[in-house]
Amino acid sequence: MSDPLTVVTHPLVQHKLSLMRAKDTSTASFRRLLREITLLLAYEITREMPLTTQGVETPMEEMDAPILAGKKLALVSILRAGNGMLDGVLELIPSARVGFVGLYRDEATLKPVQYYFKVPEGLNDRMVIVVDPMLATGNSTVAAVDLLKQAGATDIRFLCLLAAPEGVARMQEAHPDVPIVTAALDRELNEKGYILPGLGDAGDRMFGTK
Ligand code: URA
Repeated sequence: MSDPLTVVTHPLVQHKLSLMRAKDTSTASFRRLLREITLLLAYEITREMPLTTQGVETPMEEMDAPILAGKKLALVSILRAGNGMLDGVLELIPSARVGFVGLYRDEATLKPVQYYFKVPEGLNDRMVIVVDPMLATGNSTVAAVDLLKQAGATDIRFLCLLAAPEGVARMQEAHPDVPIVTAALDRELNEKGYILPGLGDAGDRMFGTK
């Protein structure tokens, strides 16, 4: 992708996002909307996947028809909220391999610490799409991308639902080669690192833990 940041302004994405922001939206609706929006965002993030052609016989005649060039895909969820975006991408690309990165924040250093890392083999051959709904401070995204690069990934994209300017700046400084696709770029972070106007804690809202 050429653009470092893509905000998907499609009316369906924007409408569904507004429903998700509303504080009275139920857990079930929030989950469904996240899956639906993710599918639409995944359409955008895969826009430049390489194509080749293959001979196909239609009922009418033979043709060289476009098919994906076979670049393998790995989808990597940043736990736990990233898991809410897996189904949306997998609906579009069912054959994608899936990895997980678990990070927690060390309360003394405020730095992300890895507690889980399991990714598909051959990351260097794959387009890697990292998913996490909220790009807030950017600390966990930067740390996850650091780990994926250490594991060999070279073609990485980041897919989120909402981004804060602080997180985008942090990613662009640490990983300028990783394009970001999001449904909205919000105003700012509050003092606790939550996005404003945002939608609250995405993990709590999708899993009903609050
Ligand atoms: N994580 C969330 O779930 N929400 C925010 O606003 C920021 C980080």
